[in-house]
Amino acid sequence: MDLSTGRPRDTWGSKAAFVLAAAGSAVGLGNIWGFPTVAGQNGGAAFLLIYLAAVALIGAPVMLAELIVGRRTQRNPVGAFKDLAPGSVWVVVGGLGVFTGIIILSFYSVIAGWTLSYIFKTITGTFVAGVDTEAIYNELAGSAVPAISWHLLFIMITIYVVLGGVRDGIERWTKVLMPVLFALLVLLAIRAVTLSGAEAGLAFYLKPDFSKVTGAVILSAIGQAFFSLSLGMGAMITYGSYVSKRDDLVSSAAWVTFADTTIAILAGLIIFPTLFHAGLEPGAGGPGMVFVVLTSLLSSIPPAPYGGVIFGTGFFMLLGIAALTSSVSLLEVVTSWAVDERGMSRRKAAISLGAVAFLIGVPSALANGAVSWLTNLPGIGMDFLSFLFMLFGQYSLVIGALLISLFVGWVWGVKAAGEEVRENDGEFPLGRTWGFLIRFVAPSAIVAILVKMVVDLV
Ligand code: PHE
Repeated sequence: MDLSTGRPRDTWGSKAAFVLAAAGSAVGLGNIWGFPTVAGQNGGAAFLLIYLAAVALIGAPVMLAELIVGRRTQRNPVGAFKDLAPGSVWVVVGGLGVFTGIIILSFYSVIAGWTLSYIFKTITGTFVAGVDTEAIYNELAGSAVPAISWHLLFIMITIYVVLGGVRDGIERWTKVLMPVLFALLVLLAIRAVTLSGAEAGLAFYLKPDFSKVTGAVILSAIGQAFFSLSLGMGAMITYGSYVSKRDDLVSSAAWVTFADTTIAILAGLIIFPTLFHAGLEPGAGGPGMVFVVLTSLLSSIPPAPYGGVIFGTGFFMLLGIAALTSSVSLLEVVTSWAVDERGMSRRKAAISLGAVAFLIGVPSALANGAVSWLTNLPGIGMDFLSFLFMLFGQYSLVIGALLISLFVGWVWGVKAAGEEVRENDGEFPLGRTWGFLIRFVAPSAIVAILVKMVVDLV
């Protein structure tokens, strides 16, 4: 029941619609840009293998745990913990998740805004041979008015989709956008792997070099997996809360995990061959890799003269679509909290909380050159956006995922969770394995990551 309207809670139209929406949340900047960057910095294929292990052993079990909690309670993250552990402190985990959601949305939208601007830049043929791509990037990301305006536009599009609700907003849009995203991805990957010099990029990406594997690499793989799969802040609790009791959670979780991972890998097939095509080092990460380096290569992409315009426009559309279906899930977490817990209308919740995210995002929009102290935080040595990402895109998600796995594994219990999975057809394939992973493997791996993060800090 929806408390504010008295109507039954919205549900996804079908299992496929839910899997697409959840995959839309998972597939985002973290896959298309983040994954190739992290993989490039940490030794390519060896990182890929470790990432796959992290996804299978930790990411997928936590994903299933969140979906189970969501479908069982049919509530936002705060309501879900209130429901399963009334009167306990566990509700704080939900609160942390909602708070994290609005903060991630605030800076995510800044980068997504650049992406929108780059769609227009590429389509109008900005990136011809010899153009100074760094100056173009600085002019956008480093100036207050354009950076804030594109951030605002992106938040407005996100609000528009969330206003439509679960079925007529999120579901409707992800059903259109995800197939487009996949088609773009495959076409771009085909173009990239057939460029001259692509083999060197593929070799770097696909041949494992285990000498590069250190503890830090393993931990960054786990952190990347959480961010990429949208775990640890209740996005999957929220999306799971709209799943009908008829639909099977185990295969849904598997599909979402599979889609997210496949798309991250495919993104690497676009980025590495393209970088090697131009003889560039894959280590150059951050915004530079996509907005400065990749755009500088566009003019050389055959067939001339439009190969680069088509490839570049396709790439930034891909990035923009991926970002939108993720930002929608971030705003939906916060909106569902305001609707369930505060009795607000969806309209009021989505608009006002979207506006809050916009305002919180302003300093991030100014942190790439526009305001110098935000660009280099005194005493911290990084820009404000990167700092928020570290606190909320990494630490908070890792802590959230730890608490969720402890809660489901030990407090609410794998038995109760299993009953929710078996609700209709009575099957829980790999149920015992999942129980073992969520109780022992996930928490201990996450504690290891946390200890390492703290040690790194001091
Ligand atoms: N998974 C998204 C990405 O890879 C980011 C995200 C994180 C979205 C957490 C929702 C919740 O870009």
